[in-house]
Amino acid sequence: MTSFKVTRVQTSPIDGQKPGTSGLRKKVKVFVQPHYLQNFVQSTFNALGADKMKGATLVVSGDGRYYSKDAIQIIIKMAAANGVRRIWVGQNGLLSTPAVSAVIRERVGADGSKANGAFILTASHNPGGPNEDFGIKYNMENGGPAPEGITDKIYSNTTTIKEYLIAEGLPDVDISKIGLGNFTGPDGQFDVDVFDSASDYVKLMKSIFDFKSIMNLLSSPKFSFCYDALHGVAGAYAKRIFVEELGAKESSLLNCVPKEDFGGGHPDPNLTYAKELVARMGLSKLDNTEDPPEFGAAADGDADRNMVLGKRLPYFNFRFFVTPSDSVAIIAANAVQAIPYFSGGLKGVARSMPTSAALDVVAKHLNLKFFEVPTGWKFFGNLMDAGMCSVCGEESFGTGSDHIREKDGIWAVLAWLAIIAYKNKDNLGGDKLVSVEDIVRQHWSTYGRHYYTRYDYENVDSGGANQLMDYLVKLQSNLTEVNNIVKGIRSDVSKVVNADEFEYKDPVDGSISKHQGIRYLFEDGSRLVFRLSGTGSEGATIRLYIEQYEKDPSKIGRESQDALAPLVEVALKLSKMQEYTGRSAPTVIT
Ligand code: G6P
Ligand code: ZN
Repeated sequence: MTSFKVTRVQTSPIDGQKPGTSGLRKKVKVFVQPHYLQNFVQSTFNALGADKMKGATLVVSGDGRYYSKDAIQIIIKMAAANGVRRIWVGQNGLLSTPAVSAVIRERVGADGSKANGAFILTASHNPGGPNEDFGIKYNMENGGPAPEGITDKIYSNTTTIKEYLIAEGLPDVDISKIGLGNFTGPDGQFDVDVFDSASDYVKLMKSIFDFKSIMNLLSSPKFSFCYDALHGVAGAYAKRIFVEELGAKESSLLNCVPKEDFGGGHPDPNLTYAKELVARMGLSKLDNTEDPPEFGAAADGDADRNMVLGKRLPYFNFRFFVTPSDSVAIIAANAVQAIPYFSGGLKGVARSMPTSAALDVVAKHLNLKFFEVPTGWKFFGNLMDAGMCSVCGEESFGTGSDHIREKDGIWAVLAWLAIIAYKNKDNLGGDKLVSVEDIVRQHWSTYGRHYYTRYDYENVDSGGANQLMDYLVKLQSNLTEVNNIVKGIRSDVSKVVNADEFEYKDPVDGSISKHQGIRYLFEDGSRLVFRLSGTGSEGATIRLYIEQYEKDPSKIGRESQDALAPLVEVALKLSKMQEYTGRSAPTVIT
């Protein structure tokens, strides 16, 4: 057995190591600076406590982006030196964020060990490569992201750090081969267990969904399917689940080979960046090639986000986009019937504040507990740990459930396939499939439609962005003035009946989160929400969320940009968007 010694390396604090919403994300060029990663990792060990690290089992893996392989070797050596007993690594260092959560919660090592936490190496949907982003975040024993108490401690440790520990004499571990390596150090035995990236996750998915009914759907000649992993880590799961387990054709998979630079693309599943999928769904008839698939989906770099598309009625010849806000509502409305994991009923449902109120209407109809939390998946975790929430989702392309403590891109696709299979269970021999679009339109006719759009103003001057937010905070306290302004802009929108700065009291631990976005609530259920992004890396990003509820079945079929035009005009003029940002148009509209 190879033995190693522990070296104490002198270091000093490096500025800017404050974890954001989802860990520390910086350019690779920043991460490769001497001691940069090491300082952050040691600060994490110190925040968790030396006694907790002694004998611990930790998972280390990620979306496979550039610099991951080097980072894994460094973390293994530092963990060994800090008295960690075992490191679990997905083969080739690959584990999706949801798979890490599943591995922490479900995997049992050959010796009966369970994981205590994980370092996840990802910058999510940000591009990768030598000139792009790298990231690292820590997840706890429940499989969810470290709470603010821990991340604050990590940051404060980075500002005082003087030394880190690293194993000397421990060779690099070959993470391309499955197997167990044993070593000895001053604290005794240290193991590195390289395991199959997909098997624990696949097992979990098989325990949640009825794979047989999804298989029947996928094998029906009337159904066709396309999945785009955008060269992210979802590719490591897509072939195993969709092709090997469920029988989809291999040609259904696009960009499913994980790449360190995501093939030079931007691994964010939306209509702008999932270009190949969008082309296959919407343009293939124009190109005179084959019929577009019935169902299309995409994932981000670490496979926690998802986008769902359907084939549009042939004469439109264009894809049908399911908004993430509708997606979670439709999953919640059909979960009990279509997904065996939920057959005993839903404990409750939750959405983030800017997500549309489509889920609220379902919760009301089905008499379910409902929660509105600030933006950020961590707020759902507490509810799920307390058994108060089964299904949750966000407008930012995140959907998931209490099977793990992260959002889950492949789970969302399986949920949709399960719903399509359920809706067609007596119909696979019939002439027309109940399509994604049919399911969404049926949902709207039952529950009403929430027209929804998001305008992003990226990388605007922080001063201007803060001024705009300050102005809106001040304005919202005077509803008479707000209504006078609104009336002057458009007489055809309803009255603002309430406005506030969203504040959340966690029903489980009583903690309070303030300043979570400004809301203007209209009499007819419409909403305008303004907030600053918490994930941007340059300048400020203003997000404007616009929503309008329509119950009248004869009015639910409009194009959303048309239906929302009056409210958009009100939002832009009311906020003086152009004046404060100098921008006449948003950078992205979703
Ligand atoms: C991350 C979190 C999500 C959150 C999103 C918000 O992806 O995991 O839970 O919704 O950030 O991003 P924003 O840029 O709007 O703060
Ligand atoms: Zn992600």
